[in-house]
Amino acid sequence: MGKSIVGLDLAANTIRAVEVADADKARPTVVRFAEVPTPPDSIRKGEVIEPNTVAGALRQLWHVGKFRTKNVVLGVGNQRVLSRDLTIPKSSREQIRESLPFQVQDMLPVPVGDAILDFYPVSEAAGENGPVLHGLLVAAIKDAVLANVKAVQLAGLNPAAVDLIPFALSRVAVTRQQLTGTVAMVELGAETTSVVVITDGVPQFVRIIPTGGNDVTKLLSARFEIGWDEAEAIKRHFGLGGTARTSDDARAVAVITESSSELFASLRNTVSYFVNTRPGQAVTKILLAGGGAKMPGFASALSDHTRIPVAMTDPFAGVARGRSITPDALAARGTAVAVAFGLAVGSKAA
Ligand SMILES: Nc1ncnc2c1ncn2[C@@H]1O[C@H](COP(=O)(O)OP(=O)(O)OP(=O)(O)O)[C@@H](O)[C@H]1O
Ligand SMILES: [Mg+2]
Repeated sequence: MGKSIVGLDLAANTIRAVEVADADKARPTVVRFAEVPTPPDSIRKGEVIEPNTVAGALRQLWHVGKFRTKNVVLGVGNQRVLSRDLTIPKSSREQIRESLPFQVQDMLPVPVGDAILDFYPVSEAAGENGPVLHGLLVAAIKDAVLANVKAVQLAGLNPAAVDLIPFALSRVAVTRQQLTGTVAMVELGAETTSVVVITDGVPQFVRIIPTGGNDVTKLLSARFEIGWDEAEAIKRHFGLGGTARTSDDARAVAVITESSSELFASLRNTVSYFVNTRPGQAVTKILLAGGGAKMPGFASALSDHTRIPVAMTDPFAGVARGRSITPDALAARGTAVAVAFGLAVGSKAA
């Protein structure tokens, strides 16, 4: 086995890490994985708020996970990441990196110097002055990433690369699985939901929605004047499809439905927006990941709202396992660790 790398998902509820060997090969190996609860209020919507606290949690994570490398790939995926369609003259990847700041300064809400830029080519065409590349401009506001990098460094780890979470996910759930046609990948976390539309394995469009499963718990807790854990249990029990036997049950289901309706509207609008701007590219399937998507009835409700078939992702198909990892362990944690796995696999640092 070659050298390994750890994908690190600094998220609102749970911090997860997956060590992968041969991350750049056709058949990578999941060597180890582990998770620790995120210390309360230390990470919000993907941004580290308390670097020292998070560094402490990371040391604990390295201790329980027994990871053999300090090289990590970090994810970004909050609303301070923008993605826009962009057409530029065809050139090498290096040249694109160098010229990007000049081409996009008018498109950003912040000075170019305050952003981390990248460009993902989608297709090639003939332009008026020669060949052009249509693609996705991705810009992350530096501030939003600096505290995450700092937390990692304080823990004695080496941040080898930063990657966009939706791309990391689409790599393992779609591109590696060789899914063809146009599919949408929806990852519903605690505080953030990301959508990425992928055609024949290439990301076409990204949208980050600042809503997640915790919003449902929050509303239940407020309306019923109950604690977080009780609200969480009610959410997981009934979800959107639970059988209501009492009037309290019915009220719970109504509150869950109400708190999810905005997210369903956003998801439906996102898919329609994509389809309307790219005629002929109908989305034929929605793939789900993330803890929030485990809510009972969520998949079928999303299918009803969008009229598109919905399925859970299997990011670990075709992946080898290290000795300490059983198939059951991987199946049980599969969608939860998909982001961390995707960050490690095929990243620029692998
Ligand atoms: N069985 C379940 N039914 C309903 N909701 C669930 C279930 N399991 C987990 N969740 C919800 O999933 C959310 C956590 O998902 P996940 O672990 O993907 O979030 P995260 O990665 O920590 O957060 P984020 O990506 O938003 O920073 C919580 O809101 C939790 O209540
Ligand atoms: Mg997450």
